[in-house]
Amino acid sequence: MSDQPDGLFSVEDQIVLLTGGSRGIGAAIAKGFASRGARVIICGREMETLQNAAAGMRGKHPVRPWQCDIAKPKEIQKMVAGTENEVGPIDTLVNVAGVNRRKPALEMSEEDFDFILDINLKGAFVVSQAVGKGMVERGKGCQIHIASLTTDRPLTHVLPYSTSKAGIGQMTRALAQEWGPHGVRVNALAPGFILTDLTQKMWSFPEMQAWADANTPQKRLGTPEDMVGTALFLASPASQFMTGQILYVDGGFNAGWTWPIPANSQ
Ligand code: NAI
Repeated sequence: MSDQPDGLFSVEDQIVLLTGGSRGIGAAIAKGFASRGARVIICGREMETLQNAAAGMRGKHPVRPWQCDIAKPKEIQKMVAGTENEVGPIDTLVNVAGVNRRKPALEMSEEDFDFILDINLKGAFVVSQAVGKGMVERGKGCQIHIASLTTDRPLTHVLPYSTSKAGIGQMTRALAQEWGPHGVRVNALAPGFILTDLTQKMWSFPEMQAWADANTPQKRLGTPEDMVGTALFLASPASQFMTGQILYVDGGFNAGWTWPIPANSQ
């Protein structure tokens, strides 16, 4: 049951498809939707992992696992047709699946580049298009993509990742333009530095922690749960006049630069 009497922030009974919902940011967002009464479907590459994740998500409706590798367009078409057939028309898509490899540009192989772009950008687009077709036909729907701080400025040694996330920013705005007249809203969340399986090795270095601490006004790394509120907001009637936007959920990292010089020195 929703605890929002006027429904402004409600996602109750919405059908929500999440890619990359088995762990990290995707799992936290899936749990957030499920516990507020949405009908959630989580997709990922391994059924067993998905089943375990879904079993830990409680709500009004059971969470459905769906095996799909988003680097494989045929699997995406099957997933979207299958979920819409078995569960119903998708109200909200949360496109979370993503990967990264960190290497200097000169050492990045063609296989590295394709692996990252095929999942992070092409895969995200194919899912978005497959779900968007029905949304445009029905004249309603909401899509949330996952951008990054690298959507605007690259970080060193993650060129393909930064390129893919810049593409997510453009895709979000381009789809918002095309689908706005058809009642479909498309926005993105740009997480700051969130401690997950994808990033935990990097954040285990003390110099990285010191750098993040010095540059994040809120003085901490994010948690996957920090991403839940804005995802719910973007899927709810509360954001009904918002489309084509990228919301930064980053503890203020993107607000400006921090100087190492003490405040009172000349
Ligand atoms: P994670 O590695 O913990 O989770 C990634 C999820 O994507 C997993 O559920 C994985 O199974 C799924 N996935 C990967 N390849 C897939 C494929 N081919 N088909 C279907 N599912 C696939 O990563 P995390 O940290 O939770 O990241 C989630 C998203 O947030 C990614 O798009 C990432 O780029 C983005 N992001 C993460 C940040 C962070 O600091 N953790 C910062 C900015 C953006």
